[in-house]
Amino acid sequence: MAEKKGTYYITTPIYYPSAKLHIGHTYCTVMADAMARFKRLSGYDVRFLTGTDEHGQKIEKCAEEAGCTPIEYVDSIVETILRLWDKMEISYDDFIRTTEPRHMKGVQDIFMRMYKNGDIYKGAYEGWYCTPCESFWTETQVEDGNCPDCGRPVKRMQEEAYFFKLSKYGDKLLNYYDEHPEFLQPDSRRNEMKAFIEQGLEDLCISRSEFDWGIPVPIDEEHVIYVWLDALSNYITALGFGTENDELYNKYWPANVHLVGKEIVRFHSIIWPAMLMSIDEPLPKQVLGHGWLLIDGGKMSKSKGNVVDPEILIDRYGIDSLKYFLLREYTFGQDGIYTNEVMLKRLNYDLANDLGNLLSRTVSMVEKYCGGQVPEAKLRDEIDSELIELAVSAAARVEEKMDGFCFNLALDEIWNVVRRANKYIDEKMPWALAKDESKKDELDTVMRNLVESLRVVSILIVPFMHTTSERMREQLGIADVEVKWEDAFEFYKMDGCTVKKGDQLFPRLDIEKELEVLENIGKADK
Ligand code: MSP
Repeated sequence: MAEKKGTYYITTPIYYPSAKLHIGHTYCTVMADAMARFKRLSGYDVRFLTGTDEHGQKIEKCAEEAGCTPIEYVDSIVETILRLWDKMEISYDDFIRTTEPRHMKGVQDIFMRMYKNGDIYKGAYEGWYCTPCESFWTETQVEDGNCPDCGRPVKRMQEEAYFFKLSKYGDKLLNYYDEHPEFLQPDSRRNEMKAFIEQGLEDLCISRSEFDWGIPVPIDEEHVIYVWLDALSNYITALGFGTENDELYNKYWPANVHLVGKEIVRFHSIIWPAMLMSIDEPLPKQVLGHGWLLIDGGKMSKSKGNVVDPEILIDRYGIDSLKYFLLREYTFGQDGIYTNEVMLKRLNYDLANDLGNLLSRTVSMVEKYCGGQVPEAKLRDEIDSELIELAVSAAARVEEKMDGFCFNLALDEIWNVVRRANKYIDEKMPWALAKDESKKDELDTVMRNLVESLRVVSILIVPFMHTTSERMREQLGIADVEVKWEDAFEFYKMDGCTVKKGDQLFPRLDIEKELEVLENIGKADK
């Protein structure tokens, strides 16, 4: 194991267990998982948190419609979420449910600290509420009777409620953004949030009394705590904040990054930091807002019936194909359009053709020309050097791209090595070298350089597709060698290894046929 570089705490949003998750939710978790795996492999002590946001009016309504109690309702959905993450081998260290006592106690503790610091008072709320987003809006913010975030109708609300003095934190937040431009990325999101704050922050209503599916306000049992105050606290209640058991909090907080979708950046970059300022705790180092996966020109939603079910794609194409596609196709921070065709083409071109072929061609040739034994490289010309230098320098470029959350560019760096190695085969024409006894050293060199390039690739892809890496290493005869990130910076490491041909890594897909199959599954699902 590499020497520990320090701690790295990464979180996903906690998902509403209001319906089964779709590929849009999967996207964020897959990015967080890749980053957690990358940081672990490069020597960090990582904590990766995900979970579910189970309180609030929306969930209460869903349960009512389903004819069961809220806890029965969320239990059944949470089970499907856990199964999905299990199936996708998501490497989270902790899964927090906001209905767990450890969280509920923690939230009440946070509420009391804010209260004791004089930041909470009782008043009356009059305004608008968007139940699907669980957010409050003023008269001027509402657009034609609809929520400015999701476009659905808002409803009038008039309730006695507790308020958090959010208005007091506007200037502090603006100063914080200016002093820590890295806190909120991309820049465009920071500018949006600055403009929002500059319009003037109103105090935030932080309790509801119209329903009771929530955490009781500790000083007034008639009220439950506003679900966003409840939800945001998960990032520290999961570390034992405010309990006797707070070693994890002391070790991992402040978080390195909260990964969130663009529509909830506002909660994470205004309400959450203001809450932390109020209780005098450090702010997370970074909030990163990613874009949405769109389908038919709009956001996926169960009510529109246009959701893509990740389980169907995994069952048909495998976990690594889905993860590769999500990480390679989309640019962090921007919206991207999902279509089956774009996905299938990626799987065929990048996985079956580029990577799968490179491995199977190489292993077959080493078996055929060298009896499976990895030979020695005795020569080195310019073409060899080009391949070797590209391969051993790729890890540093992958690190740089990952540090900027550019998963697609990191994968592109790896695929540059794959594509260069394929071109190397075409340039070197080993089948011709094999016909001439006097070219044995040249042939051996080509074989050796190919297997070593594949070994480097097998390390670089671990954060993104660890099972494919294992399958590659099996065929390369290095399954028992521990994967070390630093080994990707070196070239000749495979003395004495024996390769062994195995199954194709990725089968070639008949795109027309697959499109039809997916279309039919979609119809059957609706
Ligand atoms: N429960 C809140 C988050 C609380 S975090 C303290 C919530 N839940 S959610 O289930 O509605 O959404 C969770 C995340 O999924 C959000 O970051 C959202 O942006 C993301 N996505 C939902 N649909 C999406 C797409 N179609 N594409 C990409 N991400 C999407 O909000």
